[in-house]
Amino acid sequence: MLRKLTLIATIALVATAFLLSTAMAQEATKEAKQDTVKKVEAAKYDYVGHKKCKICHKTEHDSWMETVHAKAWDALKPEEQKKAECIGCHSTGKDKDGELLTGVQCEACHGPGSAYKSQKIMKDKELAIANGLIMPTAETCEGCHNKKSPTFKGFKFEEAVKNMKAMHVMKEAKTEGK
Ligand code: HEC
Ligand code: HEC
Ligand code: HEC
Ligand code: HEC
Repeated sequence: MLRKLTLIATIALVATAFLLSTAMAQEATKEAKQDTVKKVEAAKYDYVGHKKCKICHKTEHDSWMETVHAKAWDALKPEEQKKAECIGCHSTGKDKDGELLTGVQCEACHGPGSAYKSQKIMKDKELAIANGLIMPTAETCEGCHNKKSPTFKGFKFEEAVKNMKAMHVMKEAKTEGK
């Protein structure tokens, strides 16, 4: 009887230990997987710079050149252009060669373009979005238009997207009635 009980207890113990270690291993794999996903996401797309977009989007590009976004870098004094606390929102990011793309360029609102910029992908909107294209929403703008900006006085998306001081011309009056 005692031997039988010991046997059962041993089996129960081994089983519990086994289940526990499997659960722990699964948890560890899950974490490792999530880390990899994060790294892949972060490293997935590169900024290519506004001149690449100009090749196919001349109308949007030429009108963007006149906006305060295109000139946002020049709003900073030379000493401020060296300050990490100012650069972030007055520039777009670094390209794959590590060069800073200054001003609020296309990709600051539409996402880094290395994967979606080819004709084949671009002409298929769904495919373009799957490759990093962003159709900007209030959230996109609020990445910079928030109270961390020293000059922030509030942000109203509906009004802001119609402000032609800041926005490029849309081929199909997309800013109307939104
Ligand atoms: C090789 C040509 C080409 C290049 C380069 C290109 N695009 Fe496009 N893009 C297109 C085509 C074609 C469409 C489909 C709609 C159209 O005909 O205007 C499009 C559509 C878009 C749309 C609208 C999606 C929609 O259907 O509403 C956005 C936004 C856009 N491109 C942004 C960009 C940005 C930002 C860049 C630079 C990183 C870029 N494109 C580079 C050809 C290009
Ligand atoms: C969180 C993003 C963000 C940061 C950080 C930021 N800015 Fe700006 N900046 C903006 C935005 C957005 C605007 C447009 C006005 C507004 O809503 O604040 C702007 C506008 C400006 C303007 C134009 C103001 C005007 O009304 O003509 C100047 C100058 C400026 N910023 C300087 C700076 C300096 C200097 C720093 C660093 C100390 C800085 N910004 C940091 C986002 C930012
Ligand atoms: C400040 C943010 C911002 C910047 C910078 C910006 N865009 Fe846009 N863009 C938008 C918004 C908002 C829309 C409308 C999105 C919608 O309809 O859902 C749009 C729409 C578009 C469209 C589709 C409508 C059309 O005109 O046919 C294209 C193409 C486009 N952008 C290209 C560009 C290019 C190229 C640049 C750089 C030269 C650029 N955008 C810079 C915010 C921006
Ligand atoms: C990468 C940061 C960034 C993003 C993203 C961004 N902006 Fe801006 N925006 C700025 C900066 C910086 C300025 C100030 C430029 C200057 O005055 O030199 C500005 C200025 C403006 C202004 C003029 C503000 C004023 O008071 O004169 C409007 C309107 C505006 N943005 C709308 C938008 C909209 C709409 C979007 C999203 C579709 C957007 N912005 C996305 C950084 C950004």
